[in-house]
Amino acid sequence: MKKTVATFKEAKIKGKKLTMLTAYDYTTAKLLDEAGIDGILIGDSLGMVMLGYDNTLQVTVEDVLHHTKAVARGTKSALIVADMPFLSYHVSVEEAIRNCGRMVQEGMANAVKLEGGAEIIDKVRGIVNAKIPVMGHLGLTPQSVNMFGGFKVQGKTKEAVKKLIDDAILLEEAGVFAIVLECVPEEVGALITDAVSIPTIGIGAGSKCDGQILVIQDILGMYTDIIPKFVKQYRQMGNEIRNGVIEYIEDVEGGLFPEEKHTFKIDKDEIEEISKLY
Ligand code: KIV
Repeated sequence: MKKTVATFKEAKIKGKKLTMLTAYDYTTAKLLDEAGIDGILIGDSLGMVMLGYDNTLQVTVEDVLHHTKAVARGTKSALIVADMPFLSYHVSVEEAIRNCGRMVQEGMANAVKLEGGAEIIDKVRGIVNAKIPVMGHLGLTPQSVNMFGGFKVQGKTKEAVKKLIDDAILLEEAGVFAIVLECVPEEVGALITDAVSIPTIGIGAGSKCDGQILVIQDILGMYTDIIPKFVKQYRQMGNEIRNGVIEYIEDVEGGLFPEEKHTFKIDKDEIEEISKLY
C-alpha cells in the first residue's frame, strides 16, 4: 500500500516509529522499497555522496529532479520526498512554489523538504497553499554550513533550544507534515518531539524522535569521506564492491572470465563459411 503524509501523521498517534533513508537512483530505491522503508528522501546529500562535492551548496534543482525521477521509477510504496537545494526556495514565494511544483509534477515526488524555520515560513505557507506537502528540517541544516562555521551539533544553549522549539511549532502551524531534526542533543530532540503533534525524524537527534533517517551510503559503509558519530554501519559494502572489482580484474587478466556459460554461439556452418573469406 502506498505510504502517504497521512501514514506519517498516523504513525505518531499510534507510536509506530517511522523509517526513512536516502536514495538517489532506481536500483537502490527499488531495494529500499522492497525492504519496506516508510519514506525515501532524495537528499541534497547527493552532492556529496553521488557527485563528490565537499558540501551540498552546489546542488541544483536539475540535479535533484534528475535523481527524483529515477527514484520514483523504482518506488511503489514508500513516500517520496525531494530535498529542495540551496537557493531554490529562498528568493521568493513564487519561485519556491515553482521549483517545488516541478519535483511533484516532473519528478513524481510526493512531498518536498526545506531547511529552516521562521526565516522561510512565508515560503512554507505558500508551498503548502499550493497543495505540496512539506517536510521541515531544523538543527544542523547543512545548507547553512557557512553560517555555522562547519558541520556542528546545534541546540546547545537554552536560547538555541528555544529557537528550535519555536521554529518547530511555527512549521507545524504553517502546515508541514513532519520535521527532520539533525544533530541536536537527545534531550532537545525529545523536547521538540513532545512540543509538536507531527512526527519528528531524527538524524543524530537521539532515540526519542518519532522516526529516524540516514544516508544509504553511510549505513552500507560505502561513503567514508566523512563518518558522522550518528551513523551506524550495517554492512561494509565499500569493501564488498572493492573486493568484487579486484576479483573481476584478476579474472579478466588471468583469462578466467568470460567462461563458456557467459558467451554466445553461432551456427557452425555459418561461421565456417565466413571464416574461409578471411
Ligand atoms: O540531504 C540529506 O540527505 C538530508 C538528510 C540527511 C536528512 O537532508
